[in-house]
Amino acid sequence: MENVYQTQKARIVSINRESLDTMLFRFKFVDKKLQRNFAYLSGQFMQIGLASWGECPISICSSPSDGKEFFELAIRDVGPLTHKLNSLGVGDVADVRGPYGNGFDVDKFIDKPLVIIGGGCGFVPLRPLIIDYVNGRIKNNKLQIFYGCLNEQTLLFKKEHPLWNRNSEFVISLEKPSDKWKGEKGLITASIIKRDIDPKSVVVIVGPPVMYKFVIAELLKKKIKPENIYVSLERKMYCGKGVCQHCAIGPYYVCKDGPVFCWKNIKDIPGAL
Ligand SMILES: Cc1cc2nc3c(=O)[nH]c(=O)nc-3n(C[C@H](O)[C@H](O)[C@H](O)COP(=O)(O)OP(=O)(O)OC[C@H]3O[C@@H](n4cnc5c(N)ncnc54)[C@H](O)[C@@H]3O)c2cc1C
Ligand code: FES
Repeated sequence: MENVYQTQKARIVSINRESLDTMLFRFKFVDKKLQRNFAYLSGQFMQIGLASWGECPISICSSPSDGKEFFELAIRDVGPLTHKLNSLGVGDVADVRGPYGNGFDVDKFIDKPLVIIGGGCGFVPLRPLIIDYVNGRIKNNKLQIFYGCLNEQTLLFKKEHPLWNRNSEFVISLEKPSDKWKGEKGLITASIIKRDIDPKSVVVIVGPPVMYKFVIAELLKKKIKPENIYVSLERKMYCGKGVCQHCAIGPYYVCKDGPVFCWKNIKDIPGAL
């Protein structure tokens, strides 16, 4: 019988501190053949754990178009396990299983303007989509990125922002910036309201639950169709593959049927967003 909790060893090959509480880890499976054969989709996640610390779901934030040499996870220190993971160094090994979840169906995005809206740590699963676009894997005629964050210190992937700026309309809005900040200030919804968004756009949103309600209301006013709005949800998880029922929302399991959902399909499920 298949052991759904079977893990594999993956070694940290590089680490970048992204913010005060978030580290970007590049991993390679210890088993080289496994690494060569590792395939995933943008928007999928891994379960990562350490012996006697448990495990948790973390979105893969590299892109399949980065190649098969590695995969990346950006981990925010919020509790015991993520704190322990963030104390690991290059050469250390973690237990991982996956990839899990459905990921983004990028074929549905082709030839439509793409709008990416992320809030706080929710920006992590959106990075692969931006890499896909920059690498030409998603062939859209336009990319708009809206990134809402608390302040300069909490912004992720700063090294990549110049590249994103060159390839998209890239808007950052900070809620509590320093006096030096020259960009937009306040909630990201204000930045969205100010801009033209093509009604034919596909929009992908990931962020704190409160953000969805306000952002989606503005998108509907801009005539974006509900079937073109996608969200990626977070729920407490255990098995990660539709066995334990920990992550159920209505008829769906977030780990198996999601984490990416078309908003049209979940908008009437109580507590989904
Ligand atoms: C599909 C998915 C993808 C995720 N991707 C990332 C990622 O890329 N990077 C990242 O840093 N984190 C991500 N998370 C969240 C991450 O799994 C949790 O932060 C982690 O489980 C916390 O574990 P802990 O033992 O350190 O802290 P805990 O003590 O378990 O939790 C600390 C705090 O975070 C809350 N929390 C824990 N898990 C979740 C959850 N799933 N949803 C909402 N609140 C939660 C707890 O209620 C508590 O308040 C993702 C979660 C899901 C479901
Ligand atoms: S985490 Fe077990 S069913 Fe989703």
